[in-house]
Amino acid sequence: MRITVCCSDTKTAPWIDALRAALPGATVEEWRPGAPRADHAVVWAPPQQFLDEQPGLKGIFNIGAGVDALMKLALPRDAVVVRLDDAGMSVQMAEFVCHAVIRHFRELDAYERDAAQGKWGFRRPRLRSEFPVGVMGLGVLGARVAQALAAFEFPVLGWSRSARDVEGVRCFAGEAQFDNFLASTRVLVNLLPLTPDTENILDRATLGRLQPGGYLVNVARGAHLVDADLLALLDSGHLAGAALDVFRTEPLPAEHPFWRHPKITVTPHTSARTLRDESVAQIARKIAAFERGEPIAGVVDRNRGY
Ligand code: NAP
Ligand code: GLV
Repeated sequence: MRITVCCSDTKTAPWIDALRAALPGATVEEWRPGAPRADHAVVWAPPQQFLDEQPGLKGIFNIGAGVDALMKLALPRDAVVVRLDDAGMSVQMAEFVCHAVIRHFRELDAYERDAAQGKWGFRRPRLRSEFPVGVMGLGVLGARVAQALAAFEFPVLGWSRSARDVEGVRCFAGEAQFDNFLASTRVLVNLLPLTPDTENILDRATLGRLQPGGYLVNVARGAHLVDADLLALLDSGHLAGAALDVFRTEPLPAEHPFWRHPKITVTPHTSARTLRDESVAQIARKIAAFERGEPIAGVVDRNRGY
């Protein structure tokens, strides 16, 4: 069995070493133009040329949860596309989002500003009941995040494409229930995949339906958000702030207004990192299962785009 590795923005050598150790019977090589055809590929945002030269791939294993970069390309017709299925990401996402929500709810930015001036001043405690948190996307990451927030006793709502049942979470589904979900939400967390249906979903209309004093945590993809609409709603006072981890252009360009906006916190697409050991172990298990003809988790539905 031959496995080809083609990952942009990633040091591939340690991945190749780890895959060779996990799949000792396989030939694992970094892809170069003109490389031999392989059975399986391990990829992150590969170029179209890679896919054009590998028409016989049986499996394309993405080293991330989001497959939006891959789904824009012309893929070999018969290849199964497989995403990472947690692999250590959901606990990272839960800690990151809980931190962002609690930081806002407990006004920790304001306390830090006070401390910088040597000021000892209490703020009136806020009520959790006035900070319902709505999570868009109740998949592997969203469900874990929603349950982590519920453990802090926030009222938690969730929205997905099909109806879901997540303990401790008031669930909404589909376009028909989107407005009710938004109107019941003050802090909005985005954990949707980026697809033609969800691109630009965080626009003036959506964010404008949040309760006054709303707050946005975007940890999914930058192209979900219409940047200018967020800025307008922050400046009008309808939204109180935003924690943004993902951007239309990454790295976020130096001149982008998000960097300097007093109500926006920027982090560099780091809320849930791909962990190499967990990911290689999962991919190796899936390749072996696939070769035995067994079903595997995390297969992307090409029609849905996630
Ligand atoms: P997932 O398991 O596929 O879950 C996706 C969820 O979104 C599902 O609940 C799905 O509904 C829902 N959904 C999809 N399209 C929808 C639509 N049109 N309307 C309403 N709901 C819709 O994905 P995941 O593993 O949780 O990952 C989510 C995303 O997080 C990834 O795609 C990636 O972009 C992002 N991510 C970011 C980072 C980071 O570091 N910032 C790290 C990892 C992942 P159903 O349940 O009905 O299918
Ligand atoms: C990271 O953004 C991922 O999709 O895993």
